[in-house]
Amino acid sequence: MPKCTGQYGTPERIQADVYAIPIPSETTLFDKTVKQICPELRNLISALRENGDFSGKADETVTLATEEGRFVLVGLGDTDAMGVERVRRAAAQAMKEAAKFVAPVVALYCPLEEIVRKILPVSFEETAVAMVEGALLSLYSYDAFRKKKADQKKGQIREVMIVTVDEGYQSRLKKGIQEAQIMVEAVELARNLANAPANVVDADALAKEAATIGKKLGIKTVILKKTEIVANKMGGLLAVNRGSEKDPRFIVMEYNDKKQRLKPYVLVGKGITFDAGGLSIKPASAMEDMKTDMSGAAAVLGTMYAIAKLKLPIRVIALIPATDNMTGGGALCPGDIITMSDGTTVEVRNTDAEGRLILADALLYAQRYKPAAVIDIATLTGAVVVALASHATGMMGTDEELKETLQVAGDATYERVWELPLFDEYAKMMESDIADLKNIGGRWGGAVTAAMFLKHFTGDLPWIHLDIAGTASIEKATDYQPKGATGIGVRLLTRFLQQMK
Ligand code: BES
Ligand code: MN
Ligand code: ZN
Repeated sequence: MPKCTGQYGTPERIQADVYAIPIPSETTLFDKTVKQICPELRNLISALRENGDFSGKADETVTLATEEGRFVLVGLGDTDAMGVERVRRAAAQAMKEAAKFVAPVVALYCPLEEIVRKILPVSFEETAVAMVEGALLSLYSYDAFRKKKADQKKGQIREVMIVTVDEGYQSRLKKGIQEAQIMVEAVELARNLANAPANVVDADALAKEAATIGKKLGIKTVILKKTEIVANKMGGLLAVNRGSEKDPRFIVMEYNDKKQRLKPYVLVGKGITFDAGGLSIKPASAMEDMKTDMSGAAAVLGTMYAIAKLKLPIRVIALIPATDNMTGGGALCPGDIITMSDGTTVEVRNTDAEGRLILADALLYAQRYKPAAVIDIATLTGAVVVALASHATGMMGTDEELKETLQVAGDATYERVWELPLFDEYAKMMESDIADLKNIGGRWGGAVTAAMFLKHFTGDLPWIHLDIAGTASIEKATDYQPKGATGIGVRLLTRFLQQMK
């Protein structure tokens, strides 16, 4: 991750290889920005606008090499339903343009405070956070397994200076940068884990990573191994693990900053380190990216990292059931009936509906904490991808206030959630002829029927299920999400917990 610092002053006072300036499209705000940040370019930029080359529209960029230095102008657009997301994107676009130069040091200008207030509208600090998130997350690349690391290439961006020309805003800027750097580290942690191949991040490696994070940040971490998983009668995790060469793990982390006896929030993350489908095996093309089937676990670990570094005054428990879903000789068979720790019997009709089996164990385990709320996050169904593509996470749950808070957190972080219903009729679709439940519904409504299965194991706890199958990993890069793992859920859940504290 490049270094990130806060600075004050116009370009002539700042030493940088490229100056990037976000500019809104509305005429007076456009002029004000140019006048206050780069008055020496006034004529040049006016000419650009008159010629129709740059008008400050969203997604518009222009690059100028002048005697005063190299400049990247990026459009902020007008008052925009996208709010502060526009700033993340503009920052990311600015980095992409700047990277075309040999530019070790980039100065990225904050929009004028007045503009922030008018068109975003969020606090200056929040804008600073968004600038850093957009800039740094866009520079991420997964190169743990490359000889030549992207950030070691010559001329790559080594430092991003976030600069304000508003007097008296430096301390707010510094505070925003600090918080944003923690968020970016946490998202990168999640991206790295999810992008790592299954032969590297297996259940044991995931558990070791959790233990390392726990030790570093003072989060109590306990790893249950197979004998303890057996002792806890975790029938779902053990069933899915039957086809594997490797033992399962069950990760328990507890963050409690002030050591208070608060009711905890429990986060449950699906930790399928590879999903071959089991004996209900997936076709090759559907299996290609199944190393990311532990993205829920990665999001939970990233969130634990962020809240511990931010020292949020709350109590949070993380539960991660971890195994791969393979086809070994002892594998779970379609038709098998398994028993969960509360005695519920499940007829497994399809071994590829494995996520719900391991999550059920974690949801049952969560009850011992008498939590304020349980939130599970999982790459659970292809059906949610059919419904929402990669633009929203499917949200289902039993508590209106939690759903509303998540919705707000989703809009603020642009890790948006969209609710699907949990009508009683859907529960009928999960009834088995010979056991208490079966693990698949019918052909339709797969995201909801999966959630109805989970609901059975939540008792009367306030509970939310987030299906990130569509959002956790993407085929086509966006401004600040490269192709592959997005680290989705980290900013959403951290923001949610900030709101709940
Ligand atoms: N891990 C998959 C869901 C998934 C699909 C994640 C696409 C990411 C992208 C899950 O375990 C699964 O296989 N679900 C099945 C359930 C079905 C058998 C009821 C599915 O959605 O096809
Ligand atoms: Mn599956
Ligand atoms: Zn899966």
